[in-house]
Amino acid sequence: MALGSIPTFLLFISTFFFMVLGDDAVGNSVKYPLVVSTWPFKEAVKAAWKAVDGGLSAVDAVVEGCSTCEELRCDGTVGPGGSPDENGETTIDALVMNGVTMEVGAVAAMRYVKDGIRAARLVMQHTEHTLLVGEKASVFAISMGLPGPSNLSSSESIEKWTKWKENHCQPNFWKNVVPAGSCGPYHPKGKVDVSEECTKTNLMGVAELRSSHISPHNHDTISMTVIDKMGHVAVGTSTNGATYKIPGRVGDGPIAGSSAYADNDVGACGATGDGDIMMRFLPCYQVVESMRLGMEPRAAAKDAIYRIARKFPNFVGAVFAVNKNGEHGGACHGWTFQYSVRSPEMDDVEVFTVFP
Ligand SMILES: *[C@@H]1O[C@H](CO)[C@@H](O)[C@H](O)[C@H]1NC(C)=O
Repeated sequence: MALGSIPTFLLFISTFFFMVLGDDAVGNSVKYPLVVSTWPFKEAVKAAWKAVDGGLSAVDAVVEGCSTCEELRCDGTVGPGGSPDENGETTIDALVMNGVTMEVGAVAAMRYVKDGIRAARLVMQHTEHTLLVGEKASVFAISMGLPGPSNLSSSESIEKWTKWKENHCQPNFWKNVVPAGSCGPYHPKGKVDVSEECTKTNLMGVAELRSSHISPHNHDTISMTVIDKMGHVAVGTSTNGATYKIPGRVGDGPIAGSSAYADNDVGACGATGDGDIMMRFLPCYQVVESMRLGMEPRAAAKDAIYRIARKFPNFVGAVFAVNKNGEHGGACHGWTFQYSVRSPEMDDVEVFTVFP
């Protein structure tokens, strides 16, 4: 073979392999696996990366990642020991979704069990249901082998709650109730009650003053996407919800399409923020459907956030979007958002910052 024809020969060979293996196979080895998570929860991303790079499925890697955040009590808003409700109790919301089968497992307002994402996976893998709630979710999780019942309070969460009680249970999530500006029990404001009627104007004044002084609460959630070596997509979330929530409150965390969504044909999305508002818009479902119609991840993320901001200009929240090409982007409103990524071309987890 003449020396000059070697490059032509190599070109021919590589073209041949490209044609045989196809675009996906060649691309996949570079694009996948991939882990994306809300916030700089680096240890969680590392744990998911280790799992998926070692050959675990996307679902199992998501569980490893979110579970790490539960153990580390990331930001105090994931796992036990954070976000006390009005009774001082910590409860857990979590979800896992398999983008191949569209199966979902979730638990909400789960008491006495620390392992939210593992409980969610048990719901997905061992029941025909999607969502179990409250103490019944705890009984299920424990019966399926998770540790419990355990005390989910920590000295920090009890201290936080005690200070809140001393501050007349402010801030809280009530509206149009009396008494305003102090602890309950609360009653609807419209209710005719002589003693309440007399002080109504004053109490309403207090209520208005209060709401104008509330800053964004802690609403951080870990919402994670993993694409495994097979190119399979899964998402998971875990949170202990909003601090000082009314007992029984469930946020966006365990709601598929809101805090997270995955479809193997398209990609995935993760969300964090004011779940009470965000769950009315199913932003992650919106993101995935927009990408299905051809939008780039960042544009899809911005569109989903805009749809919420248009109706709730003061809402605080963020989403990230990932498509099957491994492209990602984020959008946020009311705060600066960060999300973490680990891909084959990175030496370590990289944190991306998104400004409102
Ligand atoms: C749970 O733990 C908290 C914080 O350590 C503690 O204050 C509380 O008394 C415990 N509750 C029970 C029922 O043991």
